[in-house]
Amino acid sequence: MIPFALAIHTIAAVIWVGGIFFLLVVLRPASASLGDMTRLTLWRAVLDRFFHWVWQCIALLLITGYGVVFFGYDGFASVGLHVHIMQLTGLMMVALFVLLWTRPWQEFCHALDRGDTPAATRALGRLRGFALANLLLGFFTTVLGAIGAFLSY
Ligand code: HEM
Repeated sequence: MIPFALAIHTIAAVIWVGGIFFLLVVLRPASASLGDMTRLTLWRAVLDRFFHWVWQCIALLLITGYGVVFFGYDGFASVGLHVHIMQLTGLMMVALFVLLWTRPWQEFCHALDRGDTPAATRALGRLRGFALANLLLGFFTTVLGAIGAFLSY
């Protein structure tokens, strides 16, 4: 059961962090030459779908992460330092995503609905800042998960 939970944990991390990498490093430059309205409409369709997956990844990461801590180990007293740090950076990632979703993402959608292209572009810029912070935290957390056990013991 624990290996299965860790497999789900890892796949959820790959989808979330890999998805942000694709958005920032691949889709952003590829869409830069499109006209404003086409580009913003594309971003809305892409992010809307991606964010549904992110909510599911968050649920899976938390359930499997805490599941492994409490059922695979004997709670936080018996895990290595890397898991404590992973919990901290993981929860920071979740908080950043919740902020991103409630502020710039809602502003972006509302601006686009009323056809306010400059406001939508500004909101997308703020959203990108949150996404970049989460990408860096995501790289750190994923590497920690992969090599942390070797460093902790
Ligand atoms: C927020 C709560 C989280 C908790 C409580 C948690 C807990 C854990 C635990 C207990 C392990 C097994 C470590 C070991 O046995 O040495 C693990 C592994 C791992 N975690 Fe997390 N985690 C959390 C969030 C995250 C996040 C947000 C990511 C990445 C986005 C992540 C990525 C990984 C990876 C890649 C592994 C390695 C899996 C493996 O090699 O088997 N975790 N996590």
